[in-house]
Amino acid sequence: MHTHGVKINAGSATNAIKYICEDPQAVTGTDQKEHIIDGAKGHNLMELALGNGVNIEHACGGVCACSTCHVYIEEGMELLSESTEAEDDRVEEAPDVRRNSRLSCQCEILKPGKIVVRIPSWNRNAVKEIPH
Ligand code: FES
Repeated sequence: MHTHGVKINAGSATNAIKYICEDPQAVTGTDQKEHIIDGAKGHNLMELALGNGVNIEHACGGVCACSTCHVYIEEGMELLSESTEAEDDRVEEAPDVRRNSRLSCQCEILKPGKIVVRIPSWNRNAVKEIPH
């Protein structure tokens, strides 16, 4: 079993979300790198992870006021809500920003399909690494 903690009831799950943890010990306390979690329209990627034992750092609690929940969307970007200007501004504060960078708390699932999310190994330390 790869889940523990509060299980979100996905209802009619239409999305299989694969979370790839570069440092699984940091976010799950285990050595399991990949976690497949069922989700559906209206769920957000950070809450789904947190509800299923993948503890993405979330210093501001999911209100787009930090950049610690930064992830890379490797597949399925088109299935998610588009980033807002506020998110774009925040994500720039994260280390190693890439074209597929998102703040996981701002990614709402809109359409069915496969989504792959990579959680960088420095996820838990991001807040301390931001200069100024
Ligand atoms: S948890 Fe702070 S922006 Fe996502």
